[in-house]
Amino acid sequence: MHHRIQFRTAVSVVAIACLLAATRSAAAQDAPIDYKAEKPFTAQHTMVVTIHHDATDAGVSVLRAGGNAVDAAVAVGFALAVVHPAAGNLGGGGFMLLRSAKKGDAHFIDFREEAPGAATANMYLDANGKPIPNASTLGMKAMGVPGSVAGLVYAEKHYGRLTLAQVMAPAIRLAHDGFTLSADEAQELHNRKLAQFAASHRIFQRDGNYYNAGDVFRQPELAKTLAAIAADPESFYHGALAHTIAAFMQQNGGLITGQDLAHYTVKDRAPLTAEYRGHTIITAPPSSSGGIALIQTLQMLTGVNLAKMGDRTPEEMHWIIEAFRRAYMDRSDYDGDTDYVRFPLQQMLDSKYLAAFAASIDPARATPSAQLHRPAGFLPDPPKATPLPEESHNTTHFSVMDAEGNAVAVTYTLNSSYGSGVTVDGLGFLLNDEMDDFTTQIGAPNIYGLIQSPNNSIAPGKRPLSCMTPTIVLGTGRQRKKVALVLGSPGGSTIPTTVVNDLISVIDGGLNIQQSVDAPRFHHQYLPDTLQVESATPPQLVAALRKMDYKVVVSRSGWGDSECIAVNPKTGWLEAGQDSRHHYGKADGY
Ligand code: DON
Repeated sequence: MHHRIQFRTAVSVVAIACLLAATRSAAAQDAPIDYKAEKPFTAQHTMVVTIHHDATDAGVSVLRAGGNAVDAAVAVGFALAVVHPAAGNLGGGGFMLLRSAKKGDAHFIDFREEAPGAATANMYLDANGKPIPNASTLGMKAMGVPGSVAGLVYAEKHYGRLTLAQVMAPAIRLAHDGFTLSADEAQELHNRKLAQFAASHRIFQRDGNYYNAGDVFRQPELAKTLAAIAADPESFYHGALAHTIAAFMQQNGGLITGQDLAHYTVKDRAPLTAEYRGHTIITAPPSSSGGIALIQTLQMLTGVNLAKMGDRTPEEMHWIIEAFRRAYMDRSDYDGDTDYVRFPLQQMLDSKYLAAFAASIDPARATPSAQLHRPAGFLPDPPKATPLPEESHNTTHFSVMDAEGNAVAVTYTLNSSYGSGVTVDGLGFLLNDEMDDFTTQIGAPNIYGLIQSPNNSIAPGKRPLSCMTPTIVLGTGRQRKKVALVLGSPGGSTIPTTVVNDLISVIDGGLNIQQSVDAPRFHHQYLPDTLQVESATPPQLVAALRKMDYKVVVSRSGWGDSECIAVNPKTGWLEAGQDSRHHYGKADGY
């Protein structure tokens, strides 16, 4: 076997309302992994790593047919919309970070959803100012204007080498012919949200005659929609498909109009960049908060010798956690869509400011969030009125590299698992609930307990603040112009800290990429003032952290799903980090 693939048959009970378990189903809680013994799957020239084996196969087949990393990533993006309906999507949005080996230029393709034209700041509050239960997470009012089709089509047209029809062929085949469900996948489809909407219940749950392990799941309506996009990509925003979507919205009380769809544009942005231990970090700019948090965290740690402390020692974790706390404080006070609001992005990334903020870290003790103050004289006062939320329970990340060294990192999402739960009747795809990523009510925490600023309040056309953090890291010394790591994960508010965990474990901790993605994660987001650790964290580590005054919450399972690539600096071979928390993923290449 030249790839790493696992199918485990444990029957899962999908954790529906678990606040912290971002993506990992109960099925993933079988025997803890001895991550320290793991070796990555390696390949000499190309690599595709995704949460689903059929999507990985789609990507590799496109590479073998002469496609580049973008062609393969677009093929994977469309394939995941078929085989991983909880997060893979046509009706959601996301980000693609790509770097071309030849020119060395990087692009951040922002295909995040936008608030519809009829959206208003208080649309999820009743007449008394109270939140309307589930309005931003379930059903016809929860969705932003989808960006995924625009984003994938844009990427293919501008950076791909093959035709859209070629890269969409595997997805169309998977939808038309079907694919075989594993036990975990069949169980995941027992989703309560899906049961509430007729087309979703019919397609994903056979009207109550639920799918079982081993069943072939065919999606003929989705196959037709994909074929229509392949034949005429404009149709989704300006043609027949747009018309069907808008009519469906109107008939069912949704807000998205034909005009909203026609207005949607992809933003090809410059990524954020920073240096860390001689590596160039290339990562997500707004409308994500993830790259800011990643860079701030790393910058605050530049003066700390993490390598000497050792990976996941209490001392090393303490420094990283305190940097997380400070980065998330800034997130909660300032971040929003820079196309709509101004916030002091450059000052927030300034190394002098971050050194001053890091100087407030007590080397031996946790700083209570309530007593944390940012250093004076660097940032303007944050906008008044504090909190509110974002994200939910499903998103997916995948990484691709081709034989020329081009690298692509994509994180895209419906927000929660299966998004709003609503399938567009006749078109066979689910719509997102990304509107919940906005500050839907000042002062109320979202399902991740995140506190957000008025800078992230709802406005027509605005993009809700994301945590998604697709990231590419370059090498050092003679490798400094070459890709060293391709990183990313789902997990809502835990995404930036997961990327930091993976990155530091490789660069400072000396783990290989497979060990890093499987090592137990730790997360702090300023508020609530708790240190979250995965269930696999050794009890003596938890005890040591408690002694440093951390309020440690041991998660019932785990979170996130890192599907990453590392380039071995000595051999140039590609190494895969394929997250063992889920059981149907695969790394493959040649
Ligand atoms: O854009 C965001 O940050 C969220 N909508 C992502 C949600 C997520 O990762 C849920 N997955 N586990």
